Amino acid sequence: MNKDKFLWGSATAAYQCEGGWDADGKGVGEWDVFSHESPLNINGATGDVACDFYHRYKEDIDMMVEGGQNTYRFSIAWTRIIPNGVGEVNQKGIDFYNRVIDYCFEKGVEPNVTLFHYDLPETIAKKDGFGNRETVDAFVEYAKVCFKAFGDRVNLWSTINEPRYYAYCTNMVGNYPPNHKVDFDRFYRVLYHEILASAKAVKAFHDMELKGKIAIVHDSSNAEIAPGTKEPQKIKMMADLFYTDLVLETSITGRIPGALIPMLRENDIDTSFIKFEDAIDFANGKIDYLGLNVYNRVYLTDYTEGETEVFHNNKGKGSKSKEGIRIKNWFETTDDANTKRNLWGREIYPKCIYNALMEIKDLYGDIPVYITENGHGMYENADVNGYVEDDERIDMMQGYIDYMLKAREDGCNVCGYYAWSTMDVYSWVNGYEKRYGFVRIDFDDPKLPRIPKKSYYWFKELIHNFYEKE
Ligand code: BG6
Repeated sequence: MNKDKFLWGSATAAYQCEGGWDADGKGVGEWDVFSHESPLNINGATGDVACDFYHRYKEDIDMMVEGGQNTYRFSIAWTRIIPNGVGEVNQKGIDFYNRVIDYCFEKGVEPNVTLFHYDLPETIAKKDGFGNRETVDAFVEYAKVCFKAFGDRVNLWSTINEPRYYAYCTNMVGNYPPNHKVDFDRFYRVLYHEILASAKAVKAFHDMELKGKIAIVHDSSNAEIAPGTKEPQKIKMMADLFYTDLVLETSITGRIPGALIPMLRENDIDTSFIKFEDAIDFANGKIDYLGLNVYNRVYLTDYTEGETEVFHNNKGKGSKSKEGIRIKNWFETTDDANTKRNLWGREIYPKCIYNALMEIKDLYGDIPVYITENGHGMYENADVNGYVEDDERIDMMQGYIDYMLKAREDGCNVCGYYAWSTMDVYSWVNGYEKRYGFVRIDFDDPKLPRIPKKSYYWFKELIHNFYEKE
């Protein structure tokens, strides 16, 4: 890997693209059970086949290469490697990821491997998943198996994808299994255990003296305070504690944020899961670089009235709900009349990538950052040839990329960019209607044809022009 080269590529996650849900000894995952059985799986979609990346990875990697991309971020399914979550290792699962990794290198694509992207083994989910401290060590054991199997080649690793957003969707929104709603105790316990698991895996990685670098991937919900807010500083501080600091400060500096525990205690939120001795694990588990997924900001103002409530929209144009939250006595999200939203009620605000990166630079200096996801969800219509003219995606992503490059010019150590997603994939709870890919997949056709969209060619040219200028 050329350390100085800015990388351009795209990303997927195992459950969302692989399919082969029970192939070659794979164990059952929590999302298999959710998608097969839960009444909360509102559109009945599953990842059983998804893009069938499990069998078609070569074709997909070839397309990346043809599109000028030189890096690919994907995740490993824990259940392929250790089908029961703990214990016996499934060699066929290791063989699969060896094939993917080796093919990436053969084609000049730098693999960026995430160990956990939402898909818990069902055996572990049944024992309360990351709500249970035992999952911390189970994750570290699984991570070590992966480091041993792939660490001789993989240069870029991440432990956990979006621990904050995962804890939020599983315990606040309640749209991801196990579907708890507005449960602060569980939200913080799950998040804390994820951060601890990540730190312990980072330490194990460093102890093995492998050649690569390891990160955690954070969902950047960069907080901006609306004009006219009465207590802007207090709200910014609380919002950062809620959205960001436990992940970033702990993983980068090795210390949990000093203001967090008092804030939780003042609000009667359980802190019994925090153990004194964990401080050593955090101190020994500092990441080498940061992965940042950027979709939106959170736009906040003073709390007005009412109980804590989360606003979320998994129904797209079938619902008018705007993404947001009101936390009793803390803060609430508000509307910016100048900012557009997508059909799922999420703000489209390109400048948030600049703000997030510059804040990271100001707080944590030179830490290398990769934008590990950025993209735009849309309903799409293909023409008779299956071609999609996704100009809206192009406009939106161009805006984010311009702001990312501006942050780079302004001194942020941003080292690469991954678009979400390489091709259309399963969208958590939203199924296959919501598209993000550069390559269209016709999920109604059993052959799952892949057809590059207009954005695929736009991205190819953007990468080409970037290297011409550099
Ligand atoms: C990110 C996740 O938060 O958002 C991805 O890491 C996900 O896995 C992406 O697909 C888009 O979310 P959604 O729900 O719109 O598909």
